[in-house]
Amino acid sequence: MSKFYILFLSIFIITNAHAQNYKIQEKYAQSKYCTGCHPDQVRDWKTTWHSKSHTTHNTLYKKTLEFMSKKLYKDSEKLSVECAKCHNPRISVKKVNKSFLLAKAFGVESKEVKDVQKALSTDYLKEGINCIVCHNVDKINHSKDLLKRGFDAVEWGPNDVMVGPFDSQRTSYHKSVKRDHFNQDVNRLCFVCHYGGENSHKLPLYTTGKEHEESKSSKKCVDCHMSERKDGVIAPHIQKEGELTKVRGLRSHLFSGVRNSDIAKEAFDSNLTERGSNLIVTLKNKTPHKVPTGYGGRALRVEVIFQEGQNNFNSIHKDLDVVYLDEKGELTIPYLAYTIEHDLRLNPSEEREVVFDIPKNATDAKVVIWYQLVNDALRTLLNITDPIFTKAYQISSQNIKLKEQP
Ligand code: HEC
Ligand code: HEC
Ligand code: HEC
Ligand code: HEC
Ligand code: HEC
Repeated sequence: MSKFYILFLSIFIITNAHAQNYKIQEKYAQSKYCTGCHPDQVRDWKTTWHSKSHTTHNTLYKKTLEFMSKKLYKDSEKLSVECAKCHNPRISVKKVNKSFLLAKAFGVESKEVKDVQKALSTDYLKEGINCIVCHNVDKINHSKDLLKRGFDAVEWGPNDVMVGPFDSQRTSYHKSVKRDHFNQDVNRLCFVCHYGGENSHKLPLYTTGKEHEESKSSKKCVDCHMSERKDGVIAPHIQKEGELTKVRGLRSHLFSGVRNSDIAKEAFDSNLTERGSNLIVTLKNKTPHKVPTGYGGRALRVEVIFQEGQNNFNSIHKDLDVVYLDEKGELTIPYLAYTIEHDLRLNPSEEREVVFDIPKNATDAKVVIWYQLVNDALRTLLNITDPIFTKAYQISSQNIKLKEQP
């Protein structure tokens, strides 16, 4: 065999393996093809924000992209492709080239422009992190490098082989294979996108995985965000001859967050005490990551409403959040930040005292703790009006009778 032939063959194999990543067969591409046999998984997943990870379903994501595009004078489709690394990792275009940018600048409908627009608006991409984003992952190249995430961290296998936690038999629809990243190493699957990230000024973003490592916790992400394993049947409605339905330990596909569950009620223990002229709210983080964790705009609000008898007369609050600043020291979004003004989030296992002055005449106090998906400042900056994001989610409410102030 000539050297030239070997070179040719290896180029062919490399490009072909790469091509597999995004040549997706329609019959596996969307969740609707799984519903008939896996109705519970599809129903639960549809309530999750994995299923909303696309500009057409998530106004916060869309407005963030538009804001960045304006501030950076960067094409918003170019940015979308960059964010797709984690938000839409099976996108068929991984980078845009110079001729795309030139064509866009001159309003020319070139082939590159059409390819990128088509890639960003394919139906399966609009499903965000859908079934085959996770269940085709054959191999994870886990590293601690904050930039090697999303599609840079995984190798997808063929579409018709569903990767999962079991040794299930070949079905009439698909084959399957078992991998450790759906069993003892399942955190690695989450770390593909939730480990950490970094903006262009090297500020860390989304450090949930790193926080979890530092906490040394042995709890898996799926124990809390899916469910404990419960007995059930994977494909309950097909009892074809020869296809035995085994009882197995299944987890829910809720990927619970504040929007589709009560998970935040499990985030911390809280306790109220009075010390001198102060009311102390003690919070103890029960999670193996920061509270709030993940996207940098979240806030935990501790609100105290002081009362005199039956009348509320004073309400004050303190936010546990992160504030990001740009080069000029002005408020900005995490992706464009230069520095962090403060990071008041609770660390894993941390116990924190949040202190309030008790006003004169107060006889009682009510302490309400809220979770905000986007803090007040960022919500105003980005002009977010979608109620999903403007709503404050109540986590707890407690009352305390105060001593008479001297
Ligand atoms: C973010 C990644 C992710 C996405 C998206 C996802 N799954 Fe899963 N799935 C998992 C994990 C992790 C497990 C294994 C849980 C365990 O048992 O530890 C699993 C298990 C399963 C199982 C085995 C039985 C069970 O429920 O535990 C089926 C079937 C399944 N998923 C189908 C689907 C379908 C259908 C979709 C799309 C609607 C989907 N999954 C989306 C991560 C994902
Ligand atoms: C015609 C029915 C059918 C359809 C459609 C179907 N599956 Fe399955 N699937 C099954 C059966 C049967 C099993 C194995 C059940 C068992 O062994 O307990 C299974 C198992 C699985 C598993 C677990 C694999 C393992 O061994 O851990 C995953 C993950 C999965 N399917 C994902 C999907 C996804 C994603 C889709 C849609 C693209 C899909 N399935 C469509 C019937 C189907
Ligand atoms: C391919 C990347 C990717 C993988 C793999 C992944 N996620 Fe996510 N996850 C995301 C993105 C992106 C979002 C935010 C989507 C949005 O809000 O539009 C998200 C959101 C979430 C949320 C927040 C939900 C909410 O309601 O706010 C939870 C919880 C979560 N993921 C848990 C997990 C767990 C557990 C795993 C591992 C089994 C996992 N994810 C695997 C990318 C991923
Ligand atoms: C002991 C249970 C527990 C474990 C284990 C856990 N979490 Fe959480 N997680 C929570 C709770 C409670 C919240 C809500 C409070 C908060 O935002 O921090 C949460 C919030 C989140 C959010 C933000 C959700 C939203 O609505 O914005 C993400 C993302 C997340 N977790 C990812 C992970 C990942 C990834 C892992 C594994 C490294 C993990 N979690 C492990 C309990 C847990
Ligand atoms: C390293 C992987 C990664 C990259 C790259 C990434 N994200 Fe994310 N993004 C995530 C994860 C994981 C979450 C979920 C965290 C959570 O729920 O708190 C998320 C959540 C978000 C949210 C909050 C969505 C919600 O529904 O609350 C916004 C907005 C967002 N990302 C915008 C962007 C933009 C814009 C880009 C590109 C400039 C980008 N992201 C690039 C991983 C990534």
